[in-house]
Amino acid sequence: MGLNKKKAELLVLCVCVLVLCSCGRQKPESRNHLYAGVACYNKSDTFLSQFIICLKEQFDNLGSDDFEVSMTVRDAAGSQRTQDDQVKELIAAGCNILCVNLVDRADPSEIINLAKEKGIPIIFFNREPVAEDMMQWDGLYYVGANAEQSGVMQGELAADVIKAGSMADRNKDGKIQFVILEGEPGHQDAIIRTENAVDTLKKQGIVLEKLCCGIANWNRAQAQNRMMQIISQYQNGIELVLANNDDMALGAIDAYKKLNYTESALPVFLGIDGTDAGLEAVIEGKLAGTVYNDKEKQAQAIAELAVSIIKKGKTAGEGTKAVTEKTGDVNSKYIYLPYSKVTSGNAAGFLDKESKAVK
Ligand code: BGC
Ligand code: CA
Repeated sequence: MGLNKKKAELLVLCVCVLVLCSCGRQKPESRNHLYAGVACYNKSDTFLSQFIICLKEQFDNLGSDDFEVSMTVRDAAGSQRTQDDQVKELIAAGCNILCVNLVDRADPSEIINLAKEKGIPIIFFNREPVAEDMMQWDGLYYVGANAEQSGVMQGELAADVIKAGSMADRNKDGKIQFVILEGEPGHQDAIIRTENAVDTLKKQGIVLEKLCCGIANWNRAQAQNRMMQIISQYQNGIELVLANNDDMALGAIDAYKKLNYTESALPVFLGIDGTDAGLEAVIEGKLAGTVYNDKEKQAQAIAELAVSIIKKGKTAGEGTKAVTEKTGDVNSKYIYLPYSKVTSGNAAGFLDKESKAVK
C-alpha cells in the first residue's frame, strides 16, 4: 500500500514537472512568433485597400529567421456584426495580436471583451474608438493621423490656389462659392476636416459662400451622383470643391466630365489621402492638391508596435515608448503620424515613395 502511494505521488510529481516544463517552453516560443489578425471595415474603400497592402509589406519586413511573422486579413464589408464574428475566428485561429479597423468606431465593446478575455492586445487603426473605450483595457492602442492637421493643410492649399491670382473667383464677386463633399457621418476624419479647412481659408482672408454640403461616405460613385445633383442646382456657380478624401474629389470631377463641362468652367478641386489615383490627378492638374495620409508610416508604426508588444511579452511598456518617441507622440496608447501637403510640384515623389514601399 505504502509503496503504491509513493508511486502515485511520484506520478503526480512527474506530471507537474512535465506541465511546468511545457509551460516554460511555450512562453519563449510565442514570443518568437507574431500572428497578426487584421480586421478591415471594408476593402472596397480605396484608401484602406492600399493601406492593407502596406501593412502586409511592413509585417513581412519585420520577419526574420528567429522571428516568424504572419498576417491574416478579414474584410467586414461594412458590417460590425460580421467583424465581431471575424475577430472571434481570428482569435480561434491563434492570432496573438489584432489590428482592427472598426466598422462602427462607437461600437468596439464586443471585440474588446473577446480580446481582453484572451489577453490579446488590439491595435486599432484609421477609425478611432472613442476615448472611454480606449480606457477599457491597457492592451488597447490606436495608430492614425490627426484629422485637424489634414483639414488645416487642405485649407492652406486651397488658399494658395485662390490667392495665386488664379481664376478661382470666376464670377468676380470677391467671394468663393464652395461645396463640401463629406465622408461618413460620425467618422473622426469627416467633420473635423471640413471645419478646419473652412476655418483656415477664412483665417487666410478668403471670403467664402457655402452653397451646399453633400455626404458621399468616402465613395467615388456616391460623390459623382451627389455632385451631379449639386451641379444641376448651381450650374456654373461652383468655384471650389473641398472633398474630405481623394475618392470623393475624383467623383466630383467625374460628374463634371459626365455633364460635358469644359475645363474653363470647372471649379478648383481639393482632396485628402494621396491615393494612387489622387496623386495621378494632381500630376495631371485635375486636382489642385491633396494632403498625404501617410499609410506607409502608419502601417510601419502598427507593425513595429505589434512586434515590440510580442517581444516584450506584455501589453504595454518600453517597446511601445520606443515607437511613440520615434513618431513624436507622448501618449503611449496613441500614435499619430503627420500628414503632408501635395501639389503638382511634389506629387510624383509621393507616387515614387509608394511604388518603392510596395516593392
Ligand atoms: C480616409 C478615407 C477613408 C476613411 C476610412 C480616412 O482617413 O481619408 O479615404 O475612406 O479613412 O475610414
Ligand atoms: Ca465668386
